[in-house]
Amino acid sequence: MEKKWWNDSVVYQIYPRSFQDSNNDGIGDLLGIIKRLDYLTDLGIDVIWLSPVYQSPNDDNGYDISDYQAISPDFGTMDDLEELIEESAKRGIKILMDLVVNHTSDEHYWFKEALKSKDNPYRDYYIWRDPLENGETPNELLSVFSGSAWELDEKSNQYYLHLYSKKQPDLNWENPKVRKEIYDMMNFWLKKGIGGFRMDVIDTIGKVPDELITTNGPKLHEYIKEMNRATFGQYDVLTVGETWGATPEIAKLYSDPARNELSMVFQFEHIGLDQIPGKPKWDTKELDFIGLKTVFSKWQNELGDKGWNSLFWNNHDIPRIVSNWGDDSPEYRVVSAKMFATFLHLLKGTPYIFQGEEIGLTNTPVTSIEEIDDIETINLYNERISEGYSNDDIFSSINKKGRDNSRRPMQWDNSNNAGFTEAEPWLALNPDYKKYNVLNDQKSETSIFTYYKNLIHLRKENELVVYGQYKELLPEDKQLYVYERYYAGETWLVVLNFYKKETTYIDEKARKGTIIISNYGDSSNNLSKLNLRSFESIVFKINEHK
Ligand code: GLC
Ligand code: CA
Repeated sequence: MEKKWWNDSVVYQIYPRSFQDSNNDGIGDLLGIIKRLDYLTDLGIDVIWLSPVYQSPNDDNGYDISDYQAISPDFGTMDDLEELIEESAKRGIKILMDLVVNHTSDEHYWFKEALKSKDNPYRDYYIWRDPLENGETPNELLSVFSGSAWELDEKSNQYYLHLYSKKQPDLNWENPKVRKEIYDMMNFWLKKGIGGFRMDVIDTIGKVPDELITTNGPKLHEYIKEMNRATFGQYDVLTVGETWGATPEIAKLYSDPARNELSMVFQFEHIGLDQIPGKPKWDTKELDFIGLKTVFSKWQNELGDKGWNSLFWNNHDIPRIVSNWGDDSPEYRVVSAKMFATFLHLLKGTPYIFQGEEIGLTNTPVTSIEEIDDIETINLYNERISEGYSNDDIFSSINKKGRDNSRRPMQWDNSNNAGFTEAEPWLALNPDYKKYNVLNDQKSETSIFTYYKNLIHLRKENELVVYGQYKELLPEDKQLYVYERYYAGETWLVVLNFYKKETTYIDEKARKGTIIISNYGDSSNNLSKLNLRSFESIVFKINEHK
């Protein structure tokens, strides 16, 4: 496969609202990000994925866009954004914009026009259906944010489709005018010199609502190919699709270079492994560890030269890995965060770090719905209250899976509000910022931050990490994840204890190898068997077999 600049890149996701406030209104902004570029340079990342900064009424925190070509005053101005692109470029960092084109805000000009009458030229930009004879919704499609996906417009007595909130009406991709408008908008951004796009729920643009098909519709790839030709295909940029329903087979349709679609997709098969199958994400169970190994091995093995993996544990929709699958108690937070980092950053693909992950930020448990901002969580709460769930039940789900867990402000130092703002923050901080913050971590040789830096460095210095083949060992082991990477005659062995319980590993090769990195400063291989402490992870370079 032809090598691309993003093969050895590391992407850092910024949730702008929570990153750094520069003007003390309690909301993170673009000038705040510019102030922190040197921090990101120190960490060693190559690309920033910026969650949406466009004009928006913020029903879904910017994922409901009312003008694709204007910056929300909360975040600054178009000049600020251009400065961010420029200042990042000086440091060798590219900016990935979030492309949210499954839907707009209901406050977008197109939708406001569409509401005016059935024969308005913009009516057909959205998806309208008549009520059933009894007045009911056209069908039983559900919104991801609870309730029906259809909302009645009383004036015209037609329903419009919204797969997310009712303030996020779905665009009608069947309409060539819609597609043309979007491509023009994408070109507007590409001309500014951005590094590419992260494409929000892109697998739903080919939906066929009358057949209850939302993801992977029949025309999906036709649209993406058209988009590629009309926009980014002419640039050397990174495109990553958010595709919740992707299997490796589907991923290859997007990312086989010969098909001219996207660079890579986010797959989510591992994310659901602590959920009860067939139930909403809120109904959780213990992590299926063997399932986790099966999923990652499948993705590592199956893409071959027809695709490229995106590697992530966290984003603004997914709670903190160290709390959910690691252990965020003071005793194990550091080692378990480093173990998850070792695992991911030694795999083949492009790693994505979500802000704060590099200092091991944790979930923020709450006890009342007033502490929550996220629309998905609030809707879930109301739905479950009306269904008779107990408060304890609901909050145990929210504290595990709620999206605010990853959206609380960044923890820079131990001053008031962690150096994020001097004003009242838009969302309360996790009170643990006095202990866990960037300043402490940057000073320490043994911090999670320094460990991430070292992992990024390993990727930059070793083609094996970027391009090496993957081979899993001990697939049946219920506690250890062990795999090899090999490339150009060299082999590395990655041994990870995913649990608090200690265990042992016997492998002659490891014994003769040298340690490249480990999450305990004093890991050793001078034993006939390897004793692995809680969450211990060690990467060995294995000597040539004689
Ligand atoms: C994606 C975003 C999420 C948003 C949704 C609707 O899943 O990551 O934050 O709520 O799309 O735009
Ligand atoms: Ca601000």
